[in-house]
Amino acid sequence: MAQDPRHEYHRPVLADEVVELIAPTMPGLVVDATFGGGGHTRRLLGEFGDRVRIVAVDRDPDALARARELGVAAVQGNFGDIAGLVSSVADEAPAAVLFDFGVSSHQVDTPERGFSYRHDGPLDMRMGPDAPHTAAEIVNTWSEQDLARIIRRYGEEPQAARIAAAIVANRPFETTGQLSTVIAQAVPPRRAGHPARRTFQAIRIAVNGEIEAVERGLGQAIDMLRPGGRVVAISYHSLEDRVVKQRFARGASGCVCPPGLPVCACGRTAELRVLTRKPIRPSAAEVAENRRARSAVLRAAEKVAA
Ligand SMILES: C[S@@+](CC[C@H](N)C(=O)[O-])C[C@H]1O[C@@H](n2cnc3c(N)ncnc32)[C@H](O)[C@@H]1O
Repeated sequence: MAQDPRHEYHRPVLADEVVELIAPTMPGLVVDATFGGGGHTRRLLGEFGDRVRIVAVDRDPDALARARELGVAAVQGNFGDIAGLVSSVADEAPAAVLFDFGVSSHQVDTPERGFSYRHDGPLDMRMGPDAPHTAAEIVNTWSEQDLARIIRRYGEEPQAARIAAAIVANRPFETTGQLSTVIAQAVPPRRAGHPARRTFQAIRIAVNGEIEAVERGLGQAIDMLRPGGRVVAISYHSLEDRVVKQRFARGASGCVCPPGLPVCACGRTAELRVLTRKPIRPSAAEVAENRRARSAVLRAAEKVAA
């Protein structure tokens, strides 16, 4: 029976496309680097049955508890250290590594986790216990300049300076409700969306060191893949997507000698073939069913046989 979507842990985004991209690598080991509610893993198990073995990774102990219920190998940690995490539970090179970045609906919808500007909760926002800061530490102790910088960079918030000044003038904060009220008062009215949305996103990215983790995790995943293996990455933010795009382009570029050299001196050969010349985005039908999908961008690449 279909689950009531209000009680879903997380609905997987671009799941058909993920299955299609991973299918040619089967049979083999798939690392679900962002297990969340296990939506993608469930689809892969449903499609490939005993031809797929899954290693589930997540920072969040709640997510990992669900992976264990599903009976797949599960390892808690930051995918920025994915090579060590996977080798602690599997000794074969993966056929595919899937990243579905960001937070799960379950995390956002659990007020005590402090991700939501809509529900009051403690200013936490850590995806897991390994996160370097809590949101309260950042909001209550960082300088106005540092706050403005992250709100602009990670939130793409045009009112970053104004919001940072209001935060500094009104701190300390203890709850998400207090913070979102001050932000709403600081920005001009009648903007699209909730006035605190971009700032909350920015603080969450800083709390969890998300962009650095994407950079490290992607590089290790590519190194780890077996020849012909694939890496699939779904981003929800232009900074994440830029990291993926640039890492894939670097992997596919091969020789990096300056143009005009008569023979190659760097000796580098391409390690990747990019499978998505244009990124894949969800259909209008998927977005209509699942609002979370609206900003999703999928890129995939294949490791070139040595
Ligand atoms: C968008 S959800 C994944 C949803 C999942 N694909 C599904 O279909 O249910 C992202 C998950 O990745 C986890 N996550 C985000 N950044 C992480 C990181 N650096 N290391 C490990 N897990 C991370 C979050 O805790 C969250 O559970």
